[in-house]
Amino acid sequence: MNFLDLVKKRYSVREFLSKTIELEKIDYILETVRLAPSAVNKQPWKLFFVTEKCLLQKLSDCYSREWFKTAPACFVVCGNHAEAWSRFDGKDHCDVDISIAVEHLVLAAAEQGLGTCWVCNFDAKKCSEVMNLSEEWEPIALIPIGYATTEIVPEKKRKSLNEIFVQVR
Ligand SMILES: Cc1cc2nc3c(=O)[nH]c(=O)nc-3n(C[C@H](O)[C@H](O)[C@H](O)COP(=O)(O)O)c2cc1C
Repeated sequence: MNFLDLVKKRYSVREFLSKTIELEKIDYILETVRLAPSAVNKQPWKLFFVTEKCLLQKLSDCYSREWFKTAPACFVVCGNHAEAWSRFDGKDHCDVDISIAVEHLVLAAAEQGLGTCWVCNFDAKKCSEVMNLSEEWEPIALIPIGYATTEIVPEKKRKSLNEIFVQVR
């Protein structure tokens, strides 16, 4: 599979089978996260991999969607703003770094035949409590992961190239 095919294969999966995920696949995915680039190589991230039923239930209280409960596992991706590189004007690049790492995660998962969905619309305060996070770690994304219930990849609705690309001569 070339890179473009992989990008096309990944989509937001919102219904999962209860099938257990092979741990080798998680190791593979995590290695792609570990190798992700970050500003000044600060790597201001920490990932928790949750499979324990009781904790998954508590996470679903932070994001109340029925589909979310079908995931057999979930990554809680956290960032440390103080650890991240900050530009001269004070803008810290934690969210940029985390986005790259998570995109590695979701693409690697797709390559391994696993479905994921970025979730940012969750109750971060509640999540910090549930995960017992220390103050410097902000939960930035939840990434439920598992085998999708269908192999059908939905059509990608995207802006045209004309709308997003400007050639500057
Ligand atoms: C930063 C980010 C946050 C997102 N948060 C949510 C979310 O909270 N809930 C959700 O169902 N989907 C969420 N999504 C998924 C987007 O809705 C989805 O990526 C977009 O509609 C494109 O569809 P596709 O991923 O199937 O290609 C998020 C995606 C990104 C990149």
